[in-house]
Amino acid sequence: MRSSSHALPLGVLTALLLSQLCSGIKWLTLSNSPVALHINHTQHCKLLPNLVPAQTQLCRTHLEAMKTIFQAAREVKKTCQKTFADMRWNCSSIEIPVDNPKYRPDLDRGTREAAFVYALSTATIIHALARACSSGDLQKCGCAPTPSETPAPDHRWGGCGDNLLYGVPLGSKFVDSPMKLKRSHGNKLMHLHNSEVGRQALRKALVVKCKCHGVSGSCSIRTCWKGLQDLREIAMDLKSRYLSATKVVHRPMGPRKQLVPKDIDIRPVRDTELVYLHSSPDFCSKNDKLGSVGTQDRQCNKTSVGSDSCDLMCCGRGYNPYTEKLVERCHCKYHWCCYVTCKKCERTVERYVCK
Ligand SMILES: *[C@@H]1O[C@H](CO)[C@@H](O)[C@H](O)[C@H]1NC(C)=O
Ligand SMILES: *[C@@H]1O[C@H](CO)[C@@H](O)[C@H](O)[C@H]1NC(C)=O
Ligand SMILES: *[C@@H]1O[C@H](CO)[C@@H](O)[C@H](O)[C@H]1NC(C)=O
Repeated sequence: MRSSSHALPLGVLTALLLSQLCSGIKWLTLSNSPVALHINHTQHCKLLPNLVPAQTQLCRTHLEAMKTIFQAAREVKKTCQKTFADMRWNCSSIEIPVDNPKYRPDLDRGTREAAFVYALSTATIIHALARACSSGDLQKCGCAPTPSETPAPDHRWGGCGDNLLYGVPLGSKFVDSPMKLKRSHGNKLMHLHNSEVGRQALRKALVVKCKCHGVSGSCSIRTCWKGLQDLREIAMDLKSRYLSATKVVHRPMGPRKQLVPKDIDIRPVRDTELVYLHSSPDFCSKNDKLGSVGTQDRQCNKTSVGSDSCDLMCCGRGYNPYTEKLVERCHCKYHWCCYVTCKKCERTVERYVCK
């Protein structure tokens, strides 16, 4: 008789184990759900793939918020890719196929990139929930309570503030619950810390916004409320924290093991700084193990001196020019009354891609 082994092939087993590690951001696969998907029954929750039990439970108790959470997952992806479009690491690994949420080494190895994605995820989901409240999309919440501080002279509180009071607890619980399951302590502390940095960046982005009133726009009275800045700005703030992130080690400090800065370990980590445990590769060349897709064929900018310059983007390998034809509206004419006609003009621009 042929000996049959029930053991899974090693590769599959490793993939399974490693996919456990990645559970922290698996919920982002919700971004692949159809925009029209409407979760209106608690039974639907267990059909959602890649959620941990605590998230499925939150789905059951907050059905009406699920649409906002799906939208937040889409925004995390879009915003991450936009924010890093000019960098070697361009957040492409955030595209997680639903049926194969396999290990993303750049996003779960405790790297700087993972730090950014976790902080952005937390900020985004809270942002989406707080805005959904103030725009009347949710029945369980509305405008934020009136701020307690007295308004500036000739200002009064009014309007409808974005509701962090609702967004912060629910959003945090949703994004942080997979981390609570993790056994690897250092990674868990790292992700929870960076999630807190995301909340901190978001609170900082809650600013006073006003509308003018008064005779013919004299602005003698202003109605003000606290509203969140656009996610794009919050992402830029987090990107600068990414650039100055602190490398930490997980080591005993006092009675417990904690994250302490690796090089200057006399101070505890600040809750404004993103932290990471493992250094990233330079992302110049392809390396599946490290989660690097490399920069070959990436577009670069010949006149830029920043991270998208051909020198930096192509890692000194050089670049190939190609031309692209752009069709634009031109010679537009205004006709009385009231329409505009334009011609189509073609323009050739030179572009460059990394070798
Ligand atoms: C739930 O959603 C489905 C599909 O969108 C719809 O056909 C159904 O009427 C909804 N049920 C309730 C109770 O709203
Ligand atoms: C990121 O870079 C990779 C590798 O060059 C490329 O295939 C991918 O399309 C880029 N993604 C985005 C969103 O620009
Ligand atoms: C290239 O960089 C320059 C300088 O930063 C900028 O003005 C220009 O718009 C960029 N070109 C493209 C195609 O992004």
